[in-house]
Amino acid sequence: MLIGVPKEIYPGENRVAIIPSGIDALLSAGFEVVIQEGAGDNSHYSDDEYRNCGACIAPSAQSLYEQADIVLKVRQPLDEEVSLLKENSTLICLLDAWFNLPLIKQLAQRNVRSFALEFIPRTTRAQSMDVLSSMGAISGYRSVLAGAIELPQYFPMLMTAAGTIHPAKVFIIGAGVAGLMAISTARRLGAVVEAYDTRVEVREQVESLGAKFVEFDLPQEEGSSAGGYATEKSEEFYTKQREQMQAKVAQADLVITTAAIPGKMSPRLITKDMLHCMKKGSVIVDLAAERGGNVEGTVAGHKVYLDGITIIGYTDHPGRVPVHASQLLTKNITTYLLNMASEGQLNIDMEDDIIAATLITEAGEIKHEGLKAKAEKE
Ligand code: NAI
Repeated sequence: MLIGVPKEIYPGENRVAIIPSGIDALLSAGFEVVIQEGAGDNSHYSDDEYRNCGACIAPSAQSLYEQADIVLKVRQPLDEEVSLLKENSTLICLLDAWFNLPLIKQLAQRNVRSFALEFIPRTTRAQSMDVLSSMGAISGYRSVLAGAIELPQYFPMLMTAAGTIHPAKVFIIGAGVAGLMAISTARRLGAVVEAYDTRVEVREQVESLGAKFVEFDLPQEEGSSAGGYATEKSEEFYTKQREQMQAKVAQADLVITTAAIPGKMSPRLITKDMLHCMKKGSVIVDLAAERGGNVEGTVAGHKVYLDGITIIGYTDHPGRVPVHASQLLTKNITTYLLNMASEGQLNIDMEDDIIAATLITEAGEIKHEGLKAKAEKE
C-alpha cells in the first residue's frame, strides 16, 4: 500500500505528519511513501531530505491524494482535501471528531476509513502513540515562554547592586501533561510555582517538580477522574472553585490555565470579575482557548488586553515548535500505524483496544459509538 503525506493547509499549521527520519520504518514495514512537495518546508525538513530517505515526491496535493491508499496528516482535512481523498482510502490524523460531526458524516459518505488520533487511550501500551500528550507537553513549555515574554518583570529572584528582585509568582490550573510541563519550565526560569487540579492524585507529581499543590475545600463529585482525564463537574462545583481560587489568581503574576474535559467545552474558571482583582500587568495564558477557554475574555488565536491584564489565547503552541512537534508526531503516528500493519497491509483487528477506540468511519458508516449516537441526535 502507498502512504501519502500531504502539506498541511489548515490555517497557521506548520507541522508535518512524518519527518524524513521516520520514512525508514514505513519502508521497512513494506509500504511505499509519497510526500507532497514542500510538505516539510514550514517545519524545516526539505524535499531532498525526504528523497534521500527513500520517499517519492508528489508535485501537488491532487497527485498525492490520487495515489495514496493511506493518508497521514496532522490536522483534520478541509473541504477541498476531503474531496480529493480516494474512495476506500484510509485517513489517520487529529480529526477533532467531537466538534466536527459534519466532516465525520462526509468521510463516511465518501467511503473513507478514518481514524482519530485524539482518541488514542491513555494506557501504557499506547504511550508512545499518544499525540495529545506529546503536543500537550510542548504547549505547557511554550505557554510559560509566551507568558514570560509578555510579563513586565523578571522571572527569577535576583540580588543585584541595584536592589533585590523578587521572583515571579506563577499559578497553574490543571496539572495534566501541559500543566506539569509548565511547572517544570517555570521552575527552571526561577519562578515560585503553585498548581491546582481537581484530580488530587497529581499532588505528588506537582510536588516532585518543586511546585506547591494548592487544595481547596470543594465537594467530591462522583467519577472525578476517568482514564487519566477529568470528568465534567456541576455548575455548583465550578462556582465554588472560582470563589476559592480568587485569592490565588489575584496574587499571581502569571496564571496558566489548562483545564480540559475530553469532548466538552472548557470549564469557565476565571470570570471578568476575577480579572478586576488581579495586579495590573499580570498575564494569563489560556491553553484551553480552542474550546471556549477557561477565562472569560479569551479570544482563540489572539492576545488581548483586558482591564490591564494580558490574556494569551494562542491555539497553535505546538506549531510554534514545529521541528520537535513534527519529530514527536512522527514517532506517535508511525508507532500507531505499525501497530495495525503487517507486510505493507493494514490489519484492522477490532479486538485491539487502541484500534477500536480510534476507528471513526468505515464502509460508509460512522463506527464510533459515541459519535454515531451524537450524529443520530442531530
Ligand atoms: P490533560 O487532560 O492532560 O490535562 C488537563 C488537566 O486539567 C487534567 O489534569 C484535569 O484533571 C484538569 N482539570 C480539569 N478540570 C479542572 C478544573 N475545573 N480545575 C482544575 N483542573 C482541572 O490535558 P493536557 O494535555 O495537559 O492539555 C491541556 C490543555 O491544553 C487542553 O485544553 C488542550 O486542548 C490544550 N492544548 C492547547 C494547545 C494550544 O496550542 N493552545 C495545544 C495542545 C493542547
